[in-house]
Amino acid sequence: MPTEKLLFPPGPVLGIETSCDDTAAAVVDGGRVLASVVSSQAEHLPFDGVVPELASRAHVRLIGPVVREALAGAGLGWEDLAGVAATHAPGLIGSLLVGLTYAKAAAAARGLPFVGVNHLEAHLLSVLLTRDDVRPPLVGLLASGGHTEIVEAREWFRYRILGSTRDDAAGEAFDKTAILLGLGFPGGPAIDRAARDGDPAAIPFPRAWLGPDSLDFSFSGLKTAVRNFVAAEGGPEAMPPARTADVAASFQEAVVEVLATKTLLAAERAGVSTVVLAGGVAANRALRSRLEAACADRGWSFAVPELRYCGDNGAMVALAGALRLARGERSNWDLPAVPTLLQTSFGS
Ligand code: KG4
Ligand code: ZN
Repeated sequence: MPTEKLLFPPGPVLGIETSCDDTAAAVVDGGRVLASVVSSQAEHLPFDGVVPELASRAHVRLIGPVVREALAGAGLGWEDLAGVAATHAPGLIGSLLVGLTYAKAAAAARGLPFVGVNHLEAHLLSVLLTRDDVRPPLVGLLASGGHTEIVEAREWFRYRILGSTRDDAAGEAFDKTAILLGLGFPGGPAIDRAARDGDPAAIPFPRAWLGPDSLDFSFSGLKTAVRNFVAAEGGPEAMPPARTADVAASFQEAVVEVLATKTLLAAERAGVSTVVLAGGVAANRALRSRLEAACADRGWSFAVPELRYCGDNGAMVALAGALRLARGERSNWDLPAVPTLLQTSFGS
């Protein structure tokens, strides 16, 4: 099937990302990252989770310096840009508004084209920051702190959601489980690290398959199983490090097995042989290697972003914005910030 060739605008594009707790900006030119700055907010650490009002305030403080640093890193001024892009959905409403409003104001003041970007589309397209051989038709697993979606793209820019989580997102499950184990926040990297020394088969935690045909996910039962297990051991402080490592590895195995199995099933059913893994949880080593090996076994192509582009970043937003600007797309100045995925066109 012929697939659309991706075009870039004739110049660099600034991308701004403030949908959650990272203030990020980057400049991308013709698919190449000239500069990428991510400021991860430390103010949430004492709370074991993101506090929306603190996130918005930190974005207000950081957005100017982060954008200036990205432009300086690229060695460019506003006059050199071909356009400005910012995440407008989904995410925390106050956080989204900071980056979106900044981007609109800067573009309007400088007479630059502006386009709003969907955060999940940006994650999916982030594989193109390091590889230019990824083509639809494809199935993508987008797993982050806020979302867990299996999407099908028969062509770029048109997506169909095949499966979603019914409760916690995969990254949220990692974060909550890490707290139960006393490993701190954010939990994904902490569990990934702890699991290295553990036995993934030590504890048979439950897998929520939700029926043989379902491509949906549920992680709340698994989290409860870990909570009960840790309580029965006398709490996280009573557990020796080797036991904590076994719980982390067994929990991770349960998540990875379900994520990988359903993604492969979705690709089989859709009749596609390209699988993309993206979003913050794509940094997980067990998940990356499981999907990579399974795709290799089937003779399929597997694409995952470099580690630095798995978590939230401005480069993926600049890239998605650049591709949309090159198609002649422009957003109106009244483009709203939209908190939930359901109200966006991502699934249409
Ligand atoms: O995409 P992202 O940076 O922000 C959202 O859009 O939510 O994803 C953040 C999520 C967090 O829940 C974090 O714990 C998880 O990605 N994460 C990981 C790993 N690194 C980050 N989860 C599992 N293993 C990792 N190595
Ligand atoms: Zn994200």
